[in-house]
Amino acid sequence: MKNNVIFYCKDAAEKFLEDSSVDLFIGHPPYYMTELELNGGDPSKQMQNAESLNEYLDRLLLSFLHMEAALKEDGHMFIALQNTSFGLGILPKIFDKTKLQLQSIRIWDYSSDFKVEGNHTVLFAHLTKNPWGAGDNPQGPFVLTNSWLEATEELRSYHTDRATVGAAPEGVYREMIKNYSEPGDVVADIFAGCGTVGVVALQLGRKFIYNDVSEDKLLVSKERIRDVLNSTGLSSAG
Ligand SMILES: C[S@@+](CC[C@H](N)C(=O)[O-])C[C@H]1O[C@@H](n2cnc3c(N)ncnc32)[C@H](O)[C@@H]1O
Repeated sequence: MKNNVIFYCKDAAEKFLEDSSVDLFIGHPPYYMTELELNGGDPSKQMQNAESLNEYLDRLLLSFLHMEAALKEDGHMFIALQNTSFGLGILPKIFDKTKLQLQSIRIWDYSSDFKVEGNHTVLFAHLTKNPWGAGDNPQGPFVLTNSWLEATEELRSYHTDRATVGAAPEGVYREMIKNYSEPGDVVADIFAGCGTVGVVALQLGRKFIYNDVSEDKLLVSKERIRDVLNSTGLSSAG
C-alpha cells in the first residue's frame, strides 16, 4: 500500500478490499437496532437496511467473508462482539462459513459514565486463519479498562452528536495494534466510525484503511486523521 491512509465510504458487506492485503483488522460492527435507536431511525446505518436479526447476521457474515479474504495468512483480527444476541448469533456462522479460528477473548470492561449507569463489557474476539495464529504474543486475562467518557473527551474538538455516537477510546485499541502488528503493517477497520483505530495505528507507524458507510463519520474521521498525520509529520501519500 503506497499511501499511509486510504478512505472508503461503503457497505462493509460489499467486497472492495484486495485479497491478502491486510495484516490486522480491528472493528466494532453496528449492533442490531442500536444505531436505529440512537440515530433517530436512519436504516442506512443498520447493516444496509437489515429488517430482521437473521438478515442482519447474514449481512454481517458477508463482511466477515470480506475480511477473511483480505486478511494475510499470518494476520490477526479483533472484532467486538457485544454480549447480546448479535455476539452469540454471529460466532457459529463465522466458524461454519469461514476458516477463522478463535484465539482468545479480550474484555473491555468500562464504566458507563455515558448514557447508562453501571459497569458494562464489550467482548473482542481475537480470530486468525490458522491454529498457531496467536504466536508468541503475550497471553493473559486481557482485561482493558477505559471509561467510555474518555472517547468523548478525545473527540471533543470534532464533536457533532450524530457523528460521534459509538466511538471507543484510543486505549482500547492500542494494546491490539502494538502486540499484533509491526511498524509499516496495514491495519484496517471496515466499521471505523470516528476513526479511532486509525488514529492509534498511524501514531504507532502503521498504515490504515478506513471504511464506514456513514458520510458524517467519514468527514469527522478525515479531519481527525489529518490532524494526526500533521502532528506526526506523516503525509497521507507515501
Ligand atoms: C460501534 S460503531 C464503530 C465505532 C468506532 N470503533 C469508533 O471508535 O468510532 C459502528 C459503525 O458501523 C457503521 N456501519 C453501520 N452499518 C455499516 C455497514 N453496512 N458498512 C460499514 N459500516 C457500517 C456505523 O456508521 C458506525 O460508525
